[in-house]
Amino acid sequence: MEKVLSGIRSTGQLHLGNYFGALRNFVKLQHEKECYFFIANVHALTTHNDPVQLRESVKSVLTEYIACGLDPDVAAIYIQSDLPETYELYTLLNMLAYKGELEKTVSFKEKARKSPNNVNAGLLTYPVLMAADILIHRAHKVPVGKDQEQHLEMARNFAQRFNHRYEEDFFPEPFAFNFGDELVKVPGLDGNGKMGKSEGVNNAIFLRDDDQTIQKKVMKAKTDGGPQSENSEKPEEIKNLFTLLNLVSNTDTVQFFEDKWNDCGIRYGDLKKQLAQDMINFVTPIREKIVDLEQNDALLQKIARRVLKKPVQVLM
Ligand code: TRP
Repeated sequence: MEKVLSGIRSTGQLHLGNYFGALRNFVKLQHEKECYFFIANVHALTTHNDPVQLRESVKSVLTEYIACGLDPDVAAIYIQSDLPETYELYTLLNMLAYKGELEKTVSFKEKARKSPNNVNAGLLTYPVLMAADILIHRAHKVPVGKDQEQHLEMARNFAQRFNHRYEEDFFPEPFAFNFGDELVKVPGLDGNGKMGKSEGVNNAIFLRDDDQTIQKKVMKAKTDGGPQSENSEKPEEIKNLFTLLNLVSNTDTVQFFEDKWNDCGIRYGDLKKQLAQDMINFVTPIREKIVDLEQNDALLQKIARRVLKKPVQVLM
């Protein structure tokens, strides 16, 4: 059976970008394939090195995984640092990864530019550790967002080099995967780029956000002066609002606002109100589960321990 693996870094709370880019696919895939979903707490260390926050984030991502519908009865759910064999493979793969290609990685360049004082070797070899995460299970499919495509390409390269040097077909080549075929990029609310934790608090809608917070963030989202002529092209910030609407609203609602845009009758206030309401409807049941689960440390411990059958090092 084909194997599926994916993970999310534990660097803070998860948001709608994580949900629609990754988690939604995890939840669907778990019933179809042999699935491994983990919490990338070692990858988190490349940029987030506060030990107290790191522990908290591991617990919070685990809670969010379960609240979104990952089922420990059908998928293997674990914490990256609880599978130290990953580091052994990482060491071997490091011998097959070249400084030049690592330095050219888009995510590396971006992070190095953002934090010039913390360009650590772990950041440089981030794609190698990610390849080890995937190859250790010999996974074929990796449900991730569009921003991870380059990392997957590198994982295929490392797998090929390993196979070539040591044993043909030892590792399968892993591919990024999305149910809708195209990889999804979920935009943020500030007009450009993707929804992310580090792009400012108002850019992302977190799965834990309450109704008022969602409303406030959406009402603040960037808009322009409105369409100047019928059927015109949308500027990026408006396109983004429509992309988000598409994710959380029904097709009639989307069509209604598309028509309003096209005949220049659109009122951004109405669009935002609708978007906020549909986001609230979407997030509320997840948030309620998160709040519930978070009280239950014993259950979370049990879930994290389940696959590896040993005490969990980092959870609490
Ligand atoms: N790089 C991924 C991200 O930032 C997280 C990650 C680490 C991952 N290792 C992985 C994703 C292995 C898929 C497979 O979202």
